Amino acid sequence: MKRLKYSSLFLPNQPTLKKYFKSKNFEDHLYTFIARYSDIIKPNKKYKLFNPTKFSVEEMASNPISLSFLSFICYLIKPKNILEIGSFIGLSTMELSNHLKKNGKVTAIEKYDKFYNIAKKNFKINKLEKKINIILGEALNVLSSNKLQNKFDLIFIDGNKENYKEIFQLCEKKLTKNGIIIIDNIFNQGDAMNKNPQTEKGYGVKRLLNYLKNKKMTKCILPFYDGIMLIKKN
Ligand SMILES: C[S@@+](CC[C@H](N)C(=O)[O-])C[C@H]1O[C@@H](n2cnc3c(N)ncnc32)[C@H](O)[C@@H]1O
Repeated sequence: MKRLKYSSLFLPNQPTLKKYFKSKNFEDHLYTFIARYSDIIKPNKKYKLFNPTKFSVEEMASNPISLSFLSFICYLIKPKNILEIGSFIGLSTMELSNHLKKNGKVTAIEKYDKFYNIAKKNFKINKLEKKINIILGEALNVLSSNKLQNKFDLIFIDGNKENYKEIFQLCEKKLTKNGIIIIDNIFNQGDAMNKNPQTEKGYGVKRLLNYLKNKKMTKCILPFYDGIMLIKKN
């Protein structure tokens, strides 16, 4: 009998997982299955979403499965303060505001005024503007300024991949003792797996990964969407 390797079992779209369910649209069925049994509601049904940009929510915002994961982490740690780098139209920002402690807040940093204004509007139409504070600016500048007074129990990094390492280093200083950092797109469409990444984004993610490699922190990478990494100080 062929020996199974761990690497042939961990992704949902692998032959081993298709043993008893055959379909050309395997991913569609799996997505529907996950959504049905973890109560995932389509983002545009859960929130009123104003999105006049040329980018679709599917393309630019976090996948609903990632959102459900973020929401569950928030439920577990009940954060008082959350920081998000890169808000787009504010979908993940709103999801992060779901399980805040009393008087807790999500602070989001968004570089582009177009997205900043749209996100602000989405917070307002969903009556979440009191729980969310969005700052217009370049992440590195805001993180190095005195605009962020408090520390954060959860930091979600989803901004420009080129500066992931520098962003992470500044975020580390803003983390509470038991805080968690979650980093999105840690595979960067596979480019971070190349010894020499082909894109600046891939190179940026790889620089962060190499920096983290030597750091004594608790780490976990999950292979969903474009790879998501969780990090906690020891
Ligand atoms: C992938 S989108 C974020 C999606 C959002 N977090 C969600 O899941 O719904 C990345 C966002 O980061 C913003 N961004 C890019 N570079 C940035 C920077 N240097 N500082 C702050 N935000 C930045 C982009 O404008 C974009 O809105």
